[in-house]
Amino acid sequence: MAGLAVEVSRSVHGLLQLPQTTRFHLLCWGRGSCPVLHVSMKLLKPPAELRIVSRIGQTPMIVALIIVVLVLLAGLFFYTPWRLGNLLGVRRKWWLFAGVAVIIVVGASSTRLASKYDSAIIDLAYLTLTAMTGFLLYLFLGLILAELLLRFTGLAKRRAALMALLLAATISAYGVWNAYQFEVDDLEVKIEGLERPVTLAVLADLQLGGHRGRSWLEQTVAATNKAKPDVVLLPGDLIDGRSALNRETLAPLADLNAPAYFVTGNHDLEVGAKDLKGIIRKLGVIVLENDVVQLGGNLQLVGLEFMNPDEDTFELHPSASSTTIKSVLPTLPIAPDVPSILMHHSPVGRAYASQASIDLMVSGHTHGGGQVFPAPLIACRLVYTYCDGLNRFDAVQIYVSQGLGTFTLPMRVGTQNELGILRLVGR
Ligand SMILES: [Fe+2]
Repeated sequence: MAGLAVEVSRSVHGLLQLPQTTRFHLLCWGRGSCPVLHVSMKLLKPPAELRIVSRIGQTPMIVALIIVVLVLLAGLFFYTPWRLGNLLGVRRKWWLFAGVAVIIVVGASSTRLASKYDSAIIDLAYLTLTAMTGFLLYLFLGLILAELLLRFTGLAKRRAALMALLLAATISAYGVWNAYQFEVDDLEVKIEGLERPVTLAVLADLQLGGHRGRSWLEQTVAATNKAKPDVVLLPGDLIDGRSALNRETLAPLADLNAPAYFVTGNHDLEVGAKDLKGIIRKLGVIVLENDVVQLGGNLQLVGLEFMNPDEDTFELHPSASSTTIKSVLPTLPIAPDVPSILMHHSPVGRAYASQASIDLMVSGHTHGGGQVFPAPLIACRLVYTYCDGLNRFDAVQIYVSQGLGTFTLPMRVGTQNELGILRLVGR
């Protein structure tokens, strides 16, 4: 079995309309046998021009991810309603199955709809149904714990079910409460050759929209100003809902006391990056689109739009752009002997950052590895090399913020919203 990345050109017409060159990642069994590819080809009229870009070489990771997702789906859709009904002695379990399916399917759909439509009803569905989905996740885990107690103790079935429900309710309530708290992650970062100290504030993944709006931005801007940074970095996913794509919601950005720089994240692109850039430029934010700027003293900032690291690496949230970190960094006027910061939404492309003599990479995107326990145990091993905090690759230091917002589930369990304050000092 091997992984392949396949590009389909925009000239494709038929049932599948593609806005631009799109990349698919496929699994193939044996030589040239790619069932998914064959199915896709049948849908294309006339047959698409497919170009095999490269072998991914990350197949075990992709297979492990698929297994995790299938186990989770089976657990949520089938095991949870079946076992809960069984333990509580419910005769008509079908309504439990139907209720779970509606919560998960409508909740998941509302996350997509919220990025396209400015609707209070969609935002409400996004907030409530995804919170209920989080509750179902912990009910699933609680029922597994109940199975163990039933097997090894004399616990009655009904009590085991109530214990699982209570556990799920408690963790969910904590998770929702914690999703609306944030702390300051204050770090000193030594930079080779930096002539004078510079303080950076990192506001990543605010994800304004369905889960939060203007008041959250006001709180985070106030905390940022309190830290008195020299520069504010906004490394993407400022919004994830259409309801935040307006001047009124984003207005607190104009209150930032330090110059602020923004690059796009995947959610900004999904909601409407062009409109977002127009609004925040008018609020005084400097938008970087694969640009290099001088921050004063002897420090330069490279800001990249959201893109894939290269053509070979598997990305869970791939960019549709053909520009990659590998292709764009060598074309930028980065002075190799001047300390440099690279801002890119996701913490990928570290080898290319190293080749470009970057000293510090600043990213977000990971939400600490999926926001809620037990996701970080899986995501931080299978999906992200770096999940949070300050890391190092060769001479590049990589700061990954857990972000200041939430996506999909309005919960944080085992992760934390954080405002990054990086105090850069010379070495
Ligand atoms: Fe993201």
